[in-house]
Amino acid sequence: MKKHIGRNDPCWCGSGVKYKKCHADFDQKIEQYARQGAYVPDRDLIKTPEQIAGIKASAAINMEVLDYVGKHIRPGISTAEIDRWVYDITTKRGAIPAPLNYEGFPRSVCTSIDEVVCHGIPDENRILEEGQIINVDVSTIYQGYFSDSSRMYCIGEVPAEKKRLVDVVKQSIEVGLKEVRPWGFLGDMGQAIHEFCEAQGYKVVREIGGHGIGLEFHEDPYVSYVSKRGEEMLMVPGLCFTIEPMVNMGTDEIYVDADDGWTVYTADDMPSAQWEIQLVITEDGYELLCW
Ligand code: MF3
Ligand code: CO
Repeated sequence: MKKHIGRNDPCWCGSGVKYKKCHADFDQKIEQYARQGAYVPDRDLIKTPEQIAGIKASAAINMEVLDYVGKHIRPGISTAEIDRWVYDITTKRGAIPAPLNYEGFPRSVCTSIDEVVCHGIPDENRILEEGQIINVDVSTIYQGYFSDSSRMYCIGEVPAEKKRLVDVVKQSIEVGLKEVRPWGFLGDMGQAIHEFCEAQGYKVVREIGGHGIGLEFHEDPYVSYVSKRGEEMLMVPGLCFTIEPMVNMGTDEIYVDADDGWTVYTADDMPSAQWEIQLVITEDGYELLCW
């Protein structure tokens, strides 16, 4: 429930400015959308400038980790080695790897090779081989602020059809970003990504998507790529979320490893790729925080 704020009270955003001179018009605009049936964000999802600064500091570490992985990943290392890099760099910066112990996840990062869609668990016995594609999904908590992004890496020379999948999924994020603007809907972006990937002959995973993030690892909204233009949450300035489509070469059907409870595979064992970015909606567009 929103607390009532008088027009002369200090604004809820912490600016110190009177509400009527700060977020009063903003709130009214959102309420108008809500009255017309739009799914609108609660106030606690709207990040203040101070919170955005905190998220950026977290994101800088997150990207430093991914840059390091990009420089050092190679055939012959284990995915557990990647996990050690992530843990060491993150903790050296005074930060915490968000996946570690998250709902029982045993490692600091997700490493998802080829037919693994997401949530692959680093393992001493899983050795990277030439020709594989791998998603490394890094998430960081720094001074209470969360960041989350993932990249694909090609191990040595990879078959052209896998390289194409990796490239198309990266492009799909650019296509989606063209639809990201204040007072648009998440479904505008979701439909654009979906249509682009399908036109390239791929299938987008339906059951797992992106999420709000910042003060927690996973906040509202859920960010789907099987959504429709004009649907899903209204993108208002200060809303912070990830775009992270998982795209399969074959079927969009997936299943979860019954033994570890985490690893998600494609049902037909065909490859899957994913890139993830994190952004915040601004007054006139968006700002990328993490990629
Ligand atoms: N980083 C993933 C995401 O993008 C979450 C992984 S949860 C974990 O939402 F526990 F598997 F790390
Ligand atoms: Co994420």
